[in-house]
Amino acid sequence: MYRFLFCFCLGVVIALGTHMGDAQEMEPTARDFHSYANPSAVRVKHIDLDWGVLFDQKILKGTATLTVDRISADQPLVLDTRDLKVEKVETSVGGQSFSPATFTIGEADKILGAPLTVPLPANANQVRIHYSTSPSASGLQWLEPPQTAGKKAPFLFTQSEAIHARSWIPLQDTPQVRVTYTARVRTPKNLLAVMSAENDANTPRDGDYSFRMDRPIPSYLIALAVGDLQFRSLGPRTGVYAEPSVIDRAARELSDTEKMVVTTERTYGPYRWGRYDILVLPPSFPYGGMENPRLTFATPTILAGDKSLVSLVAHELAHSWSGNLVTNATWRDFWLNEGFTTYLERRILEAVYGRPREEMEAALGLRDLNEEIATLEDRDEILHIDLKGRDPDDGSTDIPYEKGALFLRHLEQTFGRARFDQFLKSYFNHFAFQSITTEQFVGYLKQHLLDKYPALAAKVPVDEWIYKPGLPVSAPRPTSPAFAQVARQAQRWLSREIPATSISTAKWTTQEWLHFLKFVQESFESAGSPGASATQLSQTKKAKLLSELDRAFRLTPSGNSEIAFQWLLMSIRNHYEPAYPRLEEFLLSVGRRKFIKPLYEELAKTPEGKKRALTIYRRARSGYHPIAVASIDEVLKWRAD
Ligand code: BES
Ligand code: ZN
Repeated sequence: MYRFLFCFCLGVVIALGTHMGDAQEMEPTARDFHSYANPSAVRVKHIDLDWGVLFDQKILKGTATLTVDRISADQPLVLDTRDLKVEKVETSVGGQSFSPATFTIGEADKILGAPLTVPLPANANQVRIHYSTSPSASGLQWLEPPQTAGKKAPFLFTQSEAIHARSWIPLQDTPQVRVTYTARVRTPKNLLAVMSAENDANTPRDGDYSFRMDRPIPSYLIALAVGDLQFRSLGPRTGVYAEPSVIDRAARELSDTEKMVVTTERTYGPYRWGRYDILVLPPSFPYGGMENPRLTFATPTILAGDKSLVSLVAHELAHSWSGNLVTNATWRDFWLNEGFTTYLERRILEAVYGRPREEMEAALGLRDLNEEIATLEDRDEILHIDLKGRDPDDGSTDIPYEKGALFLRHLEQTFGRARFDQFLKSYFNHFAFQSITTEQFVGYLKQHLLDKYPALAAKVPVDEWIYKPGLPVSAPRPTSPAFAQVARQAQRWLSREIPATSISTAKWTTQEWLHFLKFVQESFESAGSPGASATQLSQTKKAKLLSELDRAFRLTPSGNSEIAFQWLLMSIRNHYEPAYPRLEEFLLSVGRRKFIKPLYEELAKTPEGKKRALTIYRRARSGYHPIAVASIDEVLKWRAD
């Protein structure tokens, strides 16, 4: 009986006929501690949305109509919500006429929001919720015109991952529920709305836009943006949206996108989503990128002018296979999304830009990972992390990304690239449009790789990789010959053999610069530690050395966001004051959390720094996204009043 219900609720009764051999498919999907929903009793299959985008009130107002599968006839529908104002709920049988329904909203939890429970009359299979969002919705950012590139029109964008979709749509906000959706969005007439769905770049700008996503996706991939946007084609299936003053720069920077799609398909099977477009957002976007299907959202800080930061596109594109096609069933399985994607990202970079580029990115990744491992508790170093009772964003460290990617690299190196590529391709195909747990992956891995080559399998401690903290001793250690060269030069400069102006930097890529700066910082730190062989460097000496670098290479005004970030971080750490005005400007103009959080953290380490941080934050805070604000409030112990 249970088996029948499970098959039925997944809606794959027929499909299972051909896949019954795989035991892992029959496991019940794991409990998601980050959702109130009860999808094993009532499961949402489709959502029809209809909103007005009210910029003056900073709210979305309208309806969400959910079509559900009733698995247990007597069970109510339970949805996730956060700060939604629910006006009225109606139900319908077949969608013809809707009748008023009762509903209750439970107590709000700080992390999870509040459950919305709707008892369902017999046979009812549609539920319509009339609601509006709150101006402080965690998944929405409303920008005033001055916060945009064009300064003339307001802008709205969403960010749903991990559990913010519930702040703008009442739904079953768990990645194990997949839905199709349609939407109608009304906006001010001069603005364009785009979604993670079919977008018609030539749609008339009449303030009335319709969308359809006909492949089932998890809630965290539902996305919307509204602004003064232009479109530029990049290839037959690819294009970019951005504000008019940014569109040329964006199109130039992202011109390899079509090539990346073709390359990825060659190794991992067809791109299943139709078009692949990228939306370049205003600088307050709190992430580097977000893999919203058919329409990646990206920070403008990747527009370096030399394509040196397009690993982000490779990454978000790779999610079209790892994440969007095969999705983590719960947030403890997040590494299935990000580890696989980071591995694929590097494979794409290697194919498009060559092996040395891949080696550099992998080496930078390993350094970040080791640095993070040095600060994390054991329980947070486990790929299959226990996040019960915690915010799923707490799990978003280098562990799922870099340790996950390193694990796959270990498998690749052990079984050989040809076999491992074949394995991954069939994995994506096998679990396409499904949400799976770590256990399901392990079952598939065992059956299709480990058990086939037991002698090789003995070399990879799979359980240790997935269920234990730290790194196995046999973990690969990616290195880069180009970085070794950089380090040699840095060493000669640090030991005062050569002046900074004699370091041959002319052919350095962004990655080499990053390695150089990080190497210098590491040398400063080890020179300062007790027992280090190098001579101890005084604070003044370090600031002097930075000043020499700055004079030679003009690092403070760098327009490359990654280099600027690394430089500013070092400037704080070594009290290099000439960089402080640039630091302030950076913190006031960029909202990407990966950059601003470490900078505020670094500042907060000293009393004067903390004072400086608070002065800047007081001005910057209203321009940051709610997700970034939540993080920085915590760093600075900020109390809004
Ligand atoms: N899916 C993530 C972004 C994300 C993760 C948002 C968790 C919310 C919760 C996206 O694919 C990502 O990893 N972005 C990275 C860039 C990437 C090149 C590593 C980022 O934003 O820094
Ligand atoms: Zn990612």
